Amino acid sequence: MKLSISTNKQLRGDVQLPGDKSLSHRSALFAALAKGQSVIDNFLVAGVTETMLDCLTQLGVQWVLEDTRLKVEGIGLKGFASPKEALNCNHSGTTMRLLAGAMVGTDTTSVLDGSDGLRRRPMGRVVDPLRLLGADIQATGEGTAPLHVTALNGGSSLNGMRYELPVASAQVKSAILLAALGANSPTTLTEPSLSRDHTERLLSSMGVDVQVNHSNFEVILSPPVEPLNPLNMSLPGDISSAAFIIVAALITPGSEVTLLDVGLNPTRTGLLDVLQQMGADIQVDVKAERHNEAVGDVTIRSSPLSGVEVGGDVVVRMIDEFPVFGIAAAYASGTTRVRDAEELRYKESDRVTTLCNGLKHFGVDVQEHPDGFTVQGGAALRGGEIDAGKDHRLGMSLSLLGLLTDGPISVSGAEIIQQSFPDFGTVLEQLGAQVNWS
Ligand code: S3P
Repeated sequence: MKLSISTNKQLRGDVQLPGDKSLSHRSALFAALAKGQSVIDNFLVAGVTETMLDCLTQLGVQWVLEDTRLKVEGIGLKGFASPKEALNCNHSGTTMRLLAGAMVGTDTTSVLDGSDGLRRRPMGRVVDPLRLLGADIQATGEGTAPLHVTALNGGSSLNGMRYELPVASAQVKSAILLAALGANSPTTLTEPSLSRDHTERLLSSMGVDVQVNHSNFEVILSPPVEPLNPLNMSLPGDISSAAFIIVAALITPGSEVTLLDVGLNPTRTGLLDVLQQMGADIQVDVKAERHNEAVGDVTIRSSPLSGVEVGGDVVVRMIDEFPVFGIAAAYASGTTRVRDAEELRYKESDRVTTLCNGLKHFGVDVQEHPDGFTVQGGAALRGGEIDAGKDHRLGMSLSLLGLLTDGPISVSGAEIIQQSFPDFGTVLEQLGAQVNWS
């Protein structure tokens, strides 16, 4: 399917966005690991989270989804059943990595597999530390999926460990922490900088002893004696989906948009900080803390932006936002330089290359570097068509260039957007944009 976005007027209005993707994955899986019924409101209903739910079904977990309310019957780590067929993680790296961590602590044998795209993504970064914990898990010779998890021999168990993550990654950290729940002694992890910490916060709200030392990015999990408490929570709107609406409002003259009840966990708000540094008029109003997560409203007014240097610790705090940040950089005046972002190459696509090629295609002056890119903003753009390259965030980002050009822009293969933000077009339409699917 092709998607085209344009506008001849400002974007205006208040929007409540669908639930956070990272919290949706975690709340569904952690609820299954708890004992008793969990109720999760504003659950993200999208391709990647449906993938997680389907895998849970294969593992013997019962759940029902009523609109966006998810109810899960927790069966505990030892209640999981060996699936009859390979678990299909589809396009979802989070499903594969988090499940791998959870599965090694169960008494089950399973295979985790996925789409061709997922089979190309690095899994050695999860498998290697899980093996150090004592797990029986294997990737292919290239360190990719399918992953084979074998139940430990009766009587043997996982041992707690000390581990230094070579790259800051919440998926790897979470996989190890989930495995560490079933270990016989504490596990201590450190990361080079602090990746999103939803797992630590959520497990702690479920009664697990997780200590975080923010000064050296260290997490210590001491295995639980008691089963995890079930969840009763309403998920905040996804700040990574908000990013598309924020950039759309900033680059469309005369716009004013308020996003209500968005997740504002500081490990996720790097884009807001960088855009403000570029001159963006963004007002952030933290209103509450729910299940240890900050939530609040964000108001965006269209603004001129200036180029900026991005590198260091902020990169991991905005790791999913670089595709849409590329659009803000193309709109800004002056030079924007992104460094220290090599991790972008291991996402749903090699996002350094696909973003640079996509921007170039529409006339943006951009240069690719091994660990990032440089954009000379403010160039006149041209219309045209491009494929989303099976990358949901790239597809949404490039479609927003339609707000900056006179000539029409269309993105083919745009159905991939359903993976994370099925309401993308509807929300933009509601705010006043013209959205055309064909
Ligand atoms: C995620 C962590 C990030 C992010 C992904 C979701 C998570 O990946 O890119 O979209 O929910 O833990 P890494 O932790 O591998 O950087």
